[in-house]
Amino acid sequence: MRLELSSYGKGDIRDPFIVVRNADGSFSSDFLFEKAEKCAPKPPEGMPGAYDGADEAERLAVTLKDKASGLTLELYYDVYADCDVICRSSRIVNGGDKPVTVLRLMSTQLDFSKDEWAMTVFHGAWAREMEKQTLPVGYAKLVNSSFTGTSSSRSNPFVMLHEPDATETAGACYGINLIYSGNHYSSAQLNSFGKLRFVSGINPEQFAWTLLPGETLDSPQAVMVFSRKGFGGMSRNMHRFVRRHIVRGPWRDRERPILINSWEACYFDVNESRLLRLAKEAKKAGAELFVLDDGWFGERSDDFSSLGDWYVNTKKFPNGLSGLSRKLKELGLDFGIWMEPEMVNTDSRLYREHPDWTMDIPGREHSEGRNQRILDLANAEVTDYLAETVSGVLEEAGAAYVKWDMNRIFSDVFSRSLPAERQGETAHRYVLGLYRLMEALTRKFPDVLFEGCSSGGNRFDLGILCYCPQIWASDNTDAVCRARIQEGYSYAYPMSTVSAHISASPNHQTLRRTAPETRFDVAAFGVLGLEYNLCDLPADAKKELAAQLELYRRWRGVLQYGDFYRLQSGNVHKWICVSPDRRRAVGLVLRELAEPNTQYEDFKAAGLEPGLIYRFYSLPHKVELMKFGDLVNTVSPVHIKQDSQAHYLVARFVKLAGETEECRVSGAVLMNAGIRLSPAYGGTGFNEHTRVSSDFSSRLYFMEAED
Ligand code: DGJ
Repeated sequence: MRLELSSYGKGDIRDPFIVVRNADGSFSSDFLFEKAEKCAPKPPEGMPGAYDGADEAERLAVTLKDKASGLTLELYYDVYADCDVICRSSRIVNGGDKPVTVLRLMSTQLDFSKDEWAMTVFHGAWAREMEKQTLPVGYAKLVNSSFTGTSSSRSNPFVMLHEPDATETAGACYGINLIYSGNHYSSAQLNSFGKLRFVSGINPEQFAWTLLPGETLDSPQAVMVFSRKGFGGMSRNMHRFVRRHIVRGPWRDRERPILINSWEACYFDVNESRLLRLAKEAKKAGAELFVLDDGWFGERSDDFSSLGDWYVNTKKFPNGLSGLSRKLKELGLDFGIWMEPEMVNTDSRLYREHPDWTMDIPGREHSEGRNQRILDLANAEVTDYLAETVSGVLEEAGAAYVKWDMNRIFSDVFSRSLPAERQGETAHRYVLGLYRLMEALTRKFPDVLFEGCSSGGNRFDLGILCYCPQIWASDNTDAVCRARIQEGYSYAYPMSTVSAHISASPNHQTLRRTAPETRFDVAAFGVLGLEYNLCDLPADAKKELAAQLELYRRWRGVLQYGDFYRLQSGNVHKWICVSPDRRRAVGLVLRELAEPNTQYEDFKAAGLEPGLIYRFYSLPHKVELMKFGDLVNTVSPVHIKQDSQAHYLVARFVKLAGETEECRVSGAVLMNAGIRLSPAYGGTGFNEHTRVSSDFSSRLYFMEAED
């Protein structure tokens, strides 16, 4: 049978929805239908849920009872018809007179009839987030889970279940994500009759929650979308839902500022005068917000000390945070600050004062991560302290923005605030404590823009997005890697949530050199920021950057809030973002590696209005002479030795005009036939119509409807 929930021990031997250890030590339960009613959706207790600002969503609540134990199970189905989404969650109520232990409580269960399915998951690591892998669903169980304490870059909680031959534009595709930031679990498996069971929720590994008589326990919400229009249709439904019902507060629909972040420009070596020099350049380039990253507090000059000591280092900042903030405001920049509130170094005042506030096991040597420990957020005393401390910093700094970082995985999970028999609650109670803290701070500072971060994308999930409208997607700022990473995120998360920075070349993580154009183009498909030392840029590079930021400001409404289509993936990435009224669109073509004799390339748009006439164009750009190396001698009247002083000198003054595209064409033609772009360089000569499409090159194409 296909079931909406399956409990353990009554003959259904598939992965269960719920497992409870009863007071008598047995594990069986038998939840049978009692009633169903319609009511208004509510978030799960202690956790964020989908936001229903316009009171449009409806809830179906189904109540089931296990007579023997007196436990009640409620299943909630919240229907967001505007986005074609159902959110499922559950609540267990101990209506009996004895304590029980909940060992598993899922958020959703989907049983399918016999069909062929594939599951796509997004796995990775630090600096390698969101690598897509598709696996056939078979008789061996497929599990996508995290056990890091966070939702993790190892396995993002978002999964797709789809027809094996689904494409970007066709085929049945379900997208399922959890509004949860801790250990998660999703499994898919065929039973002996070829029927698929899928469940998703909190990871039951080491989860054991004591439920006293009268107490309740809620699961986080699972967001479920479906589309017959393939991965693309599913993604756009999900994006709409995240934009409308996950992200909230004044920043929900507001264009996000262009920020400059000090991390890759200075690392720990921050001080007021250095930052002000950087800020002046950033302001000239067009930045709107200055973010002081790690290194400003306590005795912090590397990652061995001071986390927890959230007072300013006055040697580096003699005028305090308020002094820096005032000077930035005078320059016309808002001030943002980095914090890692959940952490402490043992070399800190906080640890010396409260060694009992950390998550470690008394009597056992602790396994450190990045030389730091996690504060025990399961302890309300700790979260209250943090709420006050973070508030103090934000007030002193007059902060308009916070980057909330979290830089290690859990080890030695243990809360001193819980008795031995409740240690199985620690990981989930930590997440509840985190939400309590984030809730208090976002309520107190509603206008502050919070950006999530966890060594990049180690906690990129819908739970964090309920508090942080955007998340730092990866510590990998290499444009080519970022194109892949951001494409991975695009399956589940809209561009307005994906923070992406232009950084130095060679890139600090890969040492790859990429053109300013490529770095800008990739960052523009997200919430663009800057993260490098602008002071050292030559004058023409500063001018080019200023022009790019000006362009971004004109188009960021479309790029952050438009409908996103993946037109092509692989060695060549083609994307398009279309404004909600379909009158403006930006396309990207990015080539990872050059291939010979592939001159002809079309740009086939999507999402436009077929009957409208669009101006399709690209912007003028220059091609570097150095790119052609020794070929310079095929046109130079005198011999130029490659890479010589003379070569560089000539290259400084001789800039070659690259191709531009310009035409007027209907949306129908743009989407069906596409635009044949200027032929790419193919080894047989160059003129101003040649599209130099070498390694790591990219172009943006703009489409504007004419009246
Ligand atoms: C990890 C983050 O992802 C980086 O962007 C930076 O903020 C460092 N932490 C600072 O320690």
